Amino acid sequence: MKHYLQFNDLTADEYAYLFERAALIKKKFKAYEKHHPLVDRTLAMIFEKASTRTRVSFEAGMYQLGGSVVHLTTGDSQLGRAEPIEDSAKVISRMVDLVMIRTYEQTKIEDFAANSRVPVINGLTNEYHPCQILADIFTFIEHRGSIQGKTVAWVGDGNNMANTWLQAAALLGFKVHVSTPRGYEIDEKLAVGAGGTSAGSYQFFSDPLEACRGADLVTTDVWTSMGYEAENEERKKAFADWCVDAEMMAAAKPDALFMHCLPAHRGEEVEADVIDGPQSVVWDEAENRMHVQKALMEYLLLGRVA
Ligand code: CP
Ligand code: NVA
Repeated sequence: MKHYLQFNDLTADEYAYLFERAALIKKKFKAYEKHHPLVDRTLAMIFEKASTRTRVSFEAGMYQLGGSVVHLTTGDSQLGRAEPIEDSAKVISRMVDLVMIRTYEQTKIEDFAANSRVPVINGLTNEYHPCQILADIFTFIEHRGSIQGKTVAWVGDGNNMANTWLQAAALLGFKVHVSTPRGYEIDEKLAVGAGGTSAGSYQFFSDPLEACRGADLVTTDVWTSMGYEAENEERKKAFADWCVDAEMMAAAKPDALFMHCLPAHRGEEVEADVIDGPQSVVWDEAENRMHVQKALMEYLLLGRVA
C-alpha cells in the first residue's frame, strides 16, 4: 500500500506513468467517454482548512471514476472535538478505500497514514502541497514538453508550495531559482524531505527580478498561507517587493509561462496584467488538478493499468 504524503513518495518513473495516464484520462473526459475503474470505491475527504479547487477536483474526479465521496470537516466531525487522529484513522479507513486530508502539521497526516488501512493523500499541509505540483508539472508538460533541465522561478514565501517545488526539482531534474523575503526562507530539511536530496537543484536570489532571469516558468503564491493569518499585516510589508509583474516576466524567457496555485490576490503577489495575461496558464493548472488526481487515485488503488 502506498500513501501520497509528500512529492518524494513516488519515483520519477511513477511520475512519468502518472503524467501519461493523466493525459489519457483528460482526453477521455473531454470526449465525454466513460472511465469507471473505481466503481464501488469510496474516497473520504477531510478538510481542516478551506478549499475550492481541492474539494471540487477530488469530489468531481472520484464520481467521474465511478466511485463516491464522503466529505468531512473539523466542524462537523469528532475531529473538531479532539478525537485522536489515530482513532479517526482506524475508524474511517475501515469504511472507505482512500482518504484525502487537508490539515495543518505534516505530522498529523503522517499519524493518520500510520494508522490507516487504506492509502492517504495529502491535499495540503503547512509543509507540502504535492497534488498541486503534480498538476503544475503536468500543465508545464502540456504546454512546453518535458520539464527536465528547465528553470522554475519561485517568487514569494518559502511555504508548502515552495518546499514541494524543490522536492520535485531534485526528483525530476530541473532547477528552481528561489527568491523569498528575509525571514521567510525555505527550510532546507522540508525541501529535501524524507529520503530526498536537493542535488544542487535550487539556487537562492535575494532579488526576485534576478530569480526570474532566464526562467522557463515563473510562479508565486499568496503572501499569507492558511494558518498564518495573524501575520498578515507584517507579511504585507515584508513581501511588498515580491509581486510578479511585467518586468519580472520580461526578465524570464520570452516563452516563459506564469503559474499560481490560486486563490490569487491581484496587486499583492501578482499584478493583474500577468495573471490575466497571455503567459498565464492558471486556469489550465486549476483544471488539471482533477485530471492528475484521477490518475493518482486510480494508481494508488489499482496500480499500473496501462
Ligand atoms: N490550489 C488549491 O489547493 O486551491 P484550494 O485551496 O481552493 O483547494
Ligand atoms: N500556500 C497556500 C496554498 C493555498 C492553495 C496555503 O497554504 O494557504
